[in-house]
Amino acid sequence: MDRYDTIAEAYRDSKELTFRDVIETYTLFEMLGDVGGKTVLDMGCGDGFYTRLLKRAGAGEVTGVDISGEMIRLATEEESRRPLGCLYRHRDARTFQPCARVDLVLASFLLHYAKSDEELRRFCRACLDALRPGGRFVGFVANTHIPLKGTVSWKKYGIVKVYPQTRRDGGVITVRITNDDSREFEFENCFFAPLTYRKAFDEAGFADFRWVEPELHPNERNNPFWDDFLRIPPFMAFSASRGRS
Ligand SMILES: C[S@@+](CC[C@H](N)C(=O)[O-])C[C@H]1O[C@@H](n2cnc3c(N)ncnc32)[C@H](O)[C@@H]1O
Repeated sequence: MDRYDTIAEAYRDSKELTFRDVIETYTLFEMLGDVGGKTVLDMGCGDGFYTRLLKRAGAGEVTGVDISGEMIRLATEEESRRPLGCLYRHRDARTFQPCARVDLVLASFLLHYAKSDEELRRFCRACLDALRPGGRFVGFVANTHIPLKGTVSWKKYGIVKVYPQTRRDGGVITVRITNDDSREFEFENCFFAPLTYRKAFDEAGFADFRWVEPELHPNERNNPFWDDFLRIPPFMAFSASRGRS
């Protein structure tokens, strides 16, 4: 059984934490700009949170792929309840290839599920192969830019992480989330140094890889509550594209 099969509902409900809206979603859509008519593959789509948001934002065909049967069950259940036309596949993103190449691949908190540099390259390669020339690849991963060690608390936002003592690729980052209703759950990510990510993107064949700092929604910019989050963000965003040739 996949780890997310046991925490699927808790993870889905964590999308109600305020930072998801005012920082995570805001940063993603600022990076993406207009998605109107674009075909999208949401790799590691979870319960389809972003799959649906992308569709609602006007994207064309949007397909979510996830290795957890329970996550895909939640996504398809929501699609039956409130149909948007999102498609879901219960598959491994490392080997999934769409029938037709897409304009945009999203990997929101997926790449740090690789267990080694080699697996990271496999994820990147699959995402590149899924893209048409000139297509874009964006997503989020755990922040490894700042030399964080041991317990790092973003408790007031609902997150606590335990970083490994050494900055060695493949080390374990334990993530504990507390939802608004006080339910706690835990999962593990893998540590990869920023340079390891950059190399994996380069080796897969991506052009113009860049890191993007999380940004706060303008409505919240005078709210000092977010200062600690923005000073040391728990995650970083990235953007890259497939060359045109
Ligand atoms: C942190 S959740 C993110 C879900 C969603 N992208 C979001 O941002 O809400 C990570 C997801 O990646 C999925 N995942 C992990 N490894 C995977 C793989 N090899 N192929 C497809 N999905 C995978 C997990 O099952 C889980 O649903």
